[in-house]
Amino acid sequence: MVFDDLTFSKPVVGLDRFRPEDRPPLLLSYLSWRVMVGIGVLMIAACALGIYYNWRKTLPEKRWLLWSLVVGIVFVMASNQAGWIGAEVGRQPWIVHPPVIWNEDGTDLVVGEDGFYQYDEAVGLRTVHAVSPSVNAAEATTSLILFLVLYLSLAAVWIMVLDSKIRKGPEEYVIPEQGDEHGVKKASAARQHARLDNA
Ligand code: HEM
Repeated sequence: MVFDDLTFSKPVVGLDRFRPEDRPPLLLSYLSWRVMVGIGVLMIAACALGIYYNWRKTLPEKRWLLWSLVVGIVFVMASNQAGWIGAEVGRQPWIVHPPVIWNEDGTDLVVGEDGFYQYDEAVGLRTVHAVSPSVNAAEATTSLILFLVLYLSLAAVWIMVLDSKIRKGPEEYVIPEQGDEHGVKKASAARQHARLDNA
């Protein structure tokens, strides 16, 4: 029983009721899901701590948290990949799973003589039938390598920009003078000077 219809009473469709050949690889789905959610929860906790320390005005002293947030980017990337692996591997061996067939009063799925759930294969698509006949392995490999090079270059540029921004730190904000109709202009001129001084 699971918390599904707000009553804890609705049985969840178990994988053991699907034919063994129609089940996804379990270990990879199991692990990737947990890696994704685990990192997600850690990131939520790190952000919550960041908000708390910022509110206490002690965030700049918490070097360990600031460093974890920088290093955390790698884990977020890993979580992203794990989520994707979980979604892709978890739906095997289907690209489109055919709808399962429910009994008349909609309380349970229809089970065949073999004890497994029944579905109409004609309205599903297996991965093995979804391979494109017009793209060969060499073409797929070439585009994969090109995408890899493109994204690695973009990642390098991104890290360089991020690094220079972090090293420079935030620009000083000059509060416009109250009651002065030219306050905003003065403030922006002051910011401009501050930038030139820093340059
Ligand atoms: C905080 C806990 C998280 C929960 C409860 C959660 C939940 C989910 C769920 C329910 C799915 C759909 C799985 C399926 O296809 O059946 C999913 C997929 C996915 N998640 Fe998470 N997630 C979490 C954290 C994260 C984080 C932190 C990232 C990345 C930074 C992430 C990236 C992804 C990606 C890329 C997919 C695959 C989307 C697709 O291709 O359809 N998730 N997640």
